[in-house]
Amino acid sequence: MRVHVADHPLITHKLTVLRDKTTPSPTFRALAEELMTLLAYEATRNVRTEVVTIQTPVSETQGLAISTPRPLVVPILRAGLGMLEGMVKLVPTAEVGFLGMVRNEETLQPETYAERLPDDLSNRQCFVLDPMLATGGSLIAAIDFLFARGAVDVTAVCLIAAPEGLAAVEKAMEGRGDVTIVLGALDERLNEHGYIVPGLGDAGDRLYGLV
Ligand code: PRP
Ligand code: URA
Repeated sequence: MRVHVADHPLITHKLTVLRDKTTPSPTFRALAEELMTLLAYEATRNVRTEVVTIQTPVSETQGLAISTPRPLVVPILRAGLGMLEGMVKLVPTAEVGFLGMVRNEETLQPETYAERLPDDLSNRQCFVLDPMLATGGSLIAAIDFLFARGAVDVTAVCLIAAPEGLAAVEKAMEGRGDVTIVLGALDERLNEHGYIVPGLGDAGDRLYGLV
């Protein structure tokens, strides 16, 4: 498994505002989207392309175009929805599938409540979006789901991760398909409630309000 932790002052600046508990939902939503766009640049570094021939106004030349089948972007509902626009802005030809997961706050185990994905993901490059990688349970379940449908190449983009969760994903993915994790920041630890410290609190609630 490859891990890339962003190291850019603009990303750190935006994450700092995102973490601030006084940042209101509209600003939080705008920042989550902007951060995703910045991280998409790194996350798509290995997006599959093919050589195409085009005519410029001056001559014929060869360039690259994103290959088919097109990349599949999978936001994990609810909080991953806050990153979707930031990704499709940069890769407008991507297809989008959905996985709905909620973590049981007693057991910290993820439960899948919705799924809208192609049945066959063989030969598809998949990009999973979820702002928080805490215990890693949700991301492991999401990647397992995609592998079970035939995907072999999954890149997950998370705004903030805990070292414990990242280690759990790494262990679960040993000997599995091709997995890359792109992070905005790797934080200190998880607290006793499974929240990332310092983190930003509950990403879904901060994006969309309490449920
Ligand atoms: C959050 C977050 C991840 C998950 C991370 O979602 O968006 O999906 O928790 O925790 P884990 O790494 O310990 O599994 P949550 O379950 O709060 O649902 P929501 O997006 O609907 O708010
Ligand atoms: N889910 C969140 O939204 N935040 C955390 O810190 C952990 C899980």
